[in-house]
Amino acid sequence: SQIKEVEFVKSSERAKDCPKDGRPEFAILGRSNVGKSSLINALVRKKEVALTSKKPGKTQLINHFLVNKNWYLVDLPGYGFAKAPDSARMDWSSFTKGYFLNRNTLVAVLLLIDASVPPQKIDLDCANWLGRNDIPITFVFTKCDKMKGGKGTRPAENIRNFQELMRHYRVHPPWILTSSVTGLGRDDLLLHMSQLRNY
Ligand code: GTP
Ligand code: MG
Repeated sequence: SQIKEVEFVKSSERAKDCPKDGRPEFAILGRSNVGKSSLINALVRKKEVALTSKKPGKTQLINHFLVNKNWYLVDLPGYGFAKAPDSARMDWSSFTKGYFLNRNTLVAVLLLIDASVPPQKIDLDCANWLGRNDIPITFVFTKCDKMKGGKGTRPAENIRNFQELMRHYRVHPPWILTSSVTGLGRDDLLLHMSQLRNY
């Protein structure tokens, strides 16, 4: 399940512009600044394969990375980019819904949840929307290395509260704890993805 090589293939504005070679792919989704691009870099053990930033809204296109000439990791723009002025805030819903509902090579969505903050309604809504549309999800909790998050709560506590809230939803996805700083969860996640791909 290890990554031997990774190659940036292209940035697409819409689903219909994405690669058409039929290879399986995993979409990396989550709130702006949750650590999507950092997770890709941690998985492939390269610093700047995917561009990261302290400012939310860095990734604005659908970016395809080909792994081992075999399958794709897809870096997506974040949702919930609340700090942007309306003019700069992209229309996430029409942008990404087009992708999720039309991409039949999608194996699963890695839905990233920031473990350093208490549960966010927008994440629960997103999980529920994907579930209603029968799109498989894996929860990937990020920033698990942080001792204390924004509201003074600990990752373990935030994760427990998130899972408790998810009990009321109809989907109960698998979940993995990660940190792009320490590498926690990297091998688990790679193994999990190889199992989902079936080889
Ligand atoms: P957008 O492209 O804006 O949607 O953001 P993104 O989800 O791609 O986030 P990005 O990877 O750019 O990371 C945002 C910030 O969080 C950066 O300052 C990262 O260094 C930091 N960060 C990401 N992952 C981790 C992690 O596991 N631990 C810690 N402590 N910080 C992290
Ligand atoms: Mg990004």
